[in-house]
Amino acid sequence: MNLSGQSALVTGGASGLGLATASALVARGAQVVLVDLPGSGGAEAAGGLGGNAAFAPADILDEAAFGKALDAAQARGALRAVVHCAGRGGDRLRIIDKEGNPGDFESFTEVVRVNLFGTYNVLRLSAARIAGNEPLDGDRGAIVLTSSIAAFDGQMGQTAYTASKAAVHGITLVAARDLASRQIRVNTIAPGTFDTAMLARLRTDLREALAAAVPHPRRLGSPDDYAHMAVALLENPYVNGETVRLDGAIRMPPR
Ligand SMILES: NC(=O)c1ccc[n+]([C@@H]2O[C@H](COP(=O)([O-])OP(=O)(O)OC[C@H]3O[C@@H](n4cnc5c(N)ncnc54)[C@H](O)[C@@H]3O)[C@@H](O)[C@H]2O)c1
Repeated sequence: MNLSGQSALVTGGASGLGLATASALVARGAQVVLVDLPGSGGAEAAGGLGGNAAFAPADILDEAAFGKALDAAQARGALRAVVHCAGRGGDRLRIIDKEGNPGDFESFTEVVRVNLFGTYNVLRLSAARIAGNEPLDGDRGAIVLTSSIAAFDGQMGQTAYTASKAAVHGITLVAARDLASRQIRVNTIAPGTFDTAMLARLRTDLREALAAAVPHPRRLGSPDDYAHMAVALLENPYVNGETVRLDGAIRMPPR
């Protein structure tokens, strides 16, 4: 699908993987709406991408606010592409802590709420809009979701994050099958260790150890590596229902 002149929406667009993807889509000639939380700096991020980008503040779990973001995207052209990057890390909590107390249930539910319920909300509301398009190059549109290698190699303390991201991987094929009759493709990227605000929370020595653990290339992933794959999944007409690990061949150890 040729994205030039088409409308695209990127969640989590104020930062990291989402911002790099929005930038790549603008470079492809698309009109891009960045969706992120109201206090996220999304307006400045969109401003930095020029006149073909705009910011729509919305919590992805808020149907009315996300609906307005979809309206903004459709006002700029037929909405053909949605890349869903909004999400949060987990709290690194063991099932039982050192004192023998059970893990925090609220933390678990919050991570699943943002990463899984948020993904389903973006998927269902976006697909309903894209379904109204006339087909272009065989597709009415395409959607890219974001899982994590933690879906496959979850480490100690990652039950919540792994549960949420494994579920995103799990619904990818179902979504592709559900939306096949509407000619909407759905694929997922499972990033490895990427150099974004999410990893900036870690100590420098831990970040360096993560980079050194990547077989090749021996570095953290760059947001542009993610954007490159997201655009490829949107453009390639035959890739559907697939989760792509994007990780330099790293496999995470237990801790
Ligand atoms: N960075 C990594 O190493 C890595 C690895 C695997 C998976 N991921 C996943 O990639 C995605 C993007 O991560 P990133 O590294 O770019 O992080 P990031 O923190 O730079 O960006 C995430 C963005 O999502 C936004 N966001 C969070 N909750 C939201 C909500 N409810 N509604 C709207 N926006 C919301 C944040 O404001 C932020 O701008 C996440 O889903 C993350 O789990 C990242």
